[in-house]
Amino acid sequence: MIPLKIINIVGARPNLPKIAPLIREMLRHPEIEPLLVHTGQHYDDKLSDIFFRQMGIPKPNVNLEVGSGSHAAQTAEVLRRIEPVLIESKPDLVLVVGDVNSTLAVSLAAAKLGIRVAHVEAGLRSFDRSMPEEINRVLTDALAEYLFVTEKDAVENLLREGRPPSRIHFVGNVMIDSLRHFLPIALKSHIGHDLGLMLKEKWRPFGVLTLHRPSNVDSMAKLGELLGAVEAIAAEVPIIFPVHPRTQERLAQAGIARHPQLLLISPLGYLDFVCLLGNATLVLTDSGGIQEETTALGVPCLTLRENTERPVTISEGTNILVGTDPEKIEAAAQAILAGKGKVGRIPALWDGKAAERIVEILLQSFFGGGAAVATT
Ligand code: UD1
Repeated sequence: MIPLKIINIVGARPNLPKIAPLIREMLRHPEIEPLLVHTGQHYDDKLSDIFFRQMGIPKPNVNLEVGSGSHAAQTAEVLRRIEPVLIESKPDLVLVVGDVNSTLAVSLAAAKLGIRVAHVEAGLRSFDRSMPEEINRVLTDALAEYLFVTEKDAVENLLREGRPPSRIHFVGNVMIDSLRHFLPIALKSHIGHDLGLMLKEKWRPFGVLTLHRPSNVDSMAKLGELLGAVEAIAAEVPIIFPVHPRTQERLAQAGIARHPQLLLISPLGYLDFVCLLGNATLVLTDSGGIQEETTALGVPCLTLRENTERPVTISEGTNILVGTDPEKIEAAAQAILAGKGKVGRIPALWDGKAAERIVEILLQSFFGGGAAVATT
């Protein structure tokens, strides 16, 4: 049997916990030959290499080393550099995850070469075209032949956009596969001791903050306002803030004063970060993935944005879309610290088996005869 050749794509940090369980699952099947291409959109050890090491992701077969740049430049560079790789290696399928510039660029190059594209985490919509990720999502979903979906709202979005039901597969959440797989190891991390969050071997109450959306960090005024609100919360409990490079650049320019309990640290590896998330009293974030991870962990999350593409974290999970008004953020945080945090439940199919389902559907589709089976 000629194996099914799949080129898997990663570009930026949030892609890595999504690809890890997929590669692991593909490697269990001799009928699949999985290759891995890193576009190099993220290149720092702390945003990339450490995730490969900790999650046991095989070394990429190819690194396109595109690096940073404007959206057009970065997207164009991935397009230009991936094309010869696809032509030479002739994969049966290209698998992309998430919504970063690399996701869109590779999908476009593959589709134009007549190579089928699978999009994992399809159909999420914030309905906010000022987010670069929203444009990447809509266009990638228009190009992909396999649309693997994490939550029911995403199925509705894809149907509304005219995607054929036979392409849409509700399979669950591969990022939660990683969370479940690595949580027992992550909980052994020493990060709590290192950051002084332990009192007699017990965790003190504390919060975790992440901020990197351009709408929150690119304007000095907005960033200052948000950190003002966080400082007020830091007067009550320590807030750990692993700072993304984009945010670090802005902070260096702004010279914003801060409360001693607001602890700015370098980006963390996956295991240390999951350990913090799992033990936190509250999480404040503008990330997409962290809204999902906190819901899966049952930890109260305040999302510092006006919209979310992941509505199930609100309707079923522990997430509150609090916006960016400092007063509202402070009030919502105080409620959580007073023990009135939101209690949620785990969304359907966030059970650690999404990668298994995806691989099964692909095998069925390529070897089982006939068209892909819809699983919506
Ligand atoms: C990208 C993704 C975003 C994702 C985020 C996670 C897009 C459009 N955006 O945003 O969806 O949530 O990654 O981190 O694809 N930099 C470094 N080291 C690196 C990479 C970047 O220092 O390894 C610096 C560069 O100076 C760069 C800045 O960080 O200008 C921002 O990086 P960039 O890749 O442009 O976008 P992110 O904000 O990371």
